[in-house]
Amino acid sequence: MTDNNELAQIGVVGLAVMGSNIARNFAHKGHTVAVYNRSPEKTRTLIAEHGDEGSFIPSETIEEFVASLERPRRALIMVQAGAATDAVIDQLADVMEPGDIIIDGGNSLYTDTIRREKAIRARGLHYVGTGISGGEEGALTGPSIMPGGTKESYESLGPLLESISAHVDGVPCCTHISSDGAGHFVKMVHNGIEYADMQVIGEAYHLLREAAGLTPAEIADIFREWNKGDLDSYLVEITAEVLSQVDEKTGKPLVDVIVDAAGQKGTGRWTVKAALDLGIPVTGIGEAVFARALSSSLAQREAARNLPSGSLAKAPEDRDAFVERVRKALYASKIIAYSQGFDEINAGAKEYGWEIDRGALATIWRGGCIIRAQFLNRIKEAYDRDPELPALVLDEYFRDQVTECLDAWRDVVVTAAQMGIPAPVFSSSLAYYDGLRAERLPAALVQGQRDYFGAHTYKRVDREGAFHTLWSGDRSEVEA
Ligand code: ATR
Repeated sequence: MTDNNELAQIGVVGLAVMGSNIARNFAHKGHTVAVYNRSPEKTRTLIAEHGDEGSFIPSETIEEFVASLERPRRALIMVQAGAATDAVIDQLADVMEPGDIIIDGGNSLYTDTIRREKAIRARGLHYVGTGISGGEEGALTGPSIMPGGTKESYESLGPLLESISAHVDGVPCCTHISSDGAGHFVKMVHNGIEYADMQVIGEAYHLLREAAGLTPAEIADIFREWNKGDLDSYLVEITAEVLSQVDEKTGKPLVDVIVDAAGQKGTGRWTVKAALDLGIPVTGIGEAVFARALSSSLAQREAARNLPSGSLAKAPEDRDAFVERVRKALYASKIIAYSQGFDEINAGAKEYGWEIDRGALATIWRGGCIIRAQFLNRIKEAYDRDPELPALVLDEYFRDQVTECLDAWRDVVVTAAQMGIPAPVFSSSLAYYDGLRAERLPAALVQGQRDYFGAHTYKRVDREGAFHTLWSGDRSEVEA
């Protein structure tokens, strides 16, 4: 608690789990934190349970809360995305003054952030849509923070956010992303990449279990081993923990008593929808979102249980060699999924006029967030070598890595197909890779078909202009 006349450097509105933890994180870093929640019980509970951890100024009305902030006032909203966020923004904007900063730290859709920023700017206030990743634990001890908004607002807000973010090699996992919705856009793609990353790990586990016949405990050990190399990451680490967990009630591996239907809150789906609009193939993320949807179609899966798998099933002969091939398939698919995610960020930046430094983004994802990994250092180095890299997979390092994995990757996709084990991200990533490098695709044929049924015209390889074949006439070609 604090002296009566002391003002807070930052305020947090919304004291559910994420909001409380962020508020405590600010307090732990020596800031005075104003706290407010619609239902005052949450504010009282926070102060009762954690008030001695630092300097808090609790308020039971929004007016009191705003009055307890030093200028420019900085208020971080941590309530549900959507209508709740809009309601709180309005309440704050009504009592704030020009130059004050409203920050939305929830998982808002970036188009909402663009809309809100415009409306709030018109009222003379700053609006900062901020991605925050790291879950409950990260919020308390150091998340990865992706703020959008004006440069001016970052000057006032940045040092505060950087102080509570994770740090890797002394570098804060927080940087100004770009204007208006940029922070929430990159957070959305981060979550999409997270879906793909979790799915490739899932596919590796599934193959090791179903094709190689390994137990969850054995697979946990394999993931622990993998976590020492190129795949060193938080997600691989927790995968080993989940797989080695034994259910107290049944003595079975916990993974076998969990209902096999994956949930989703929506940011993966948003990433895919945005990618569709931008015309960017994010096949890894898309397949990961669809894989969760398929897993949750329990009635359909039940009805389809007896569909045949064919007669080509052939289990891998050399188990250790297969394990290594699966590792390589996972790694190559992961590189492709990240490459696609960074493509989407690049396309979003072009569409909305954001200047996004993809290397800096990789840097702030190295710690605090769910996709934190050694691998992000390699991505940063790739963008340091060439900030305009046309695709991550074209960087010399990643190209070499994929080349090194290629035969194993193809072999694993063949095994999966022959044994009837779904590996949608492994296989679609390989198809994308082959599509990307192909000199000719069947796209020319598609153009011919489109010209045939819809007179959509086509371009020629040897001449400028658009052409149409008179398909229902004498089949001569005319210039369109
Ligand atoms: P978490 O996932 O961390 O539990 P959440 O569900 O995203 O949190 O957000 C819940 C928070 O949003 C709560 O602080 C809630 O306030 P109450 O404790 O009063 O329910 C807040 N919230 C939801 N709708 C709100 C609204 N319309 N106005 C203000 N706060 C609101």
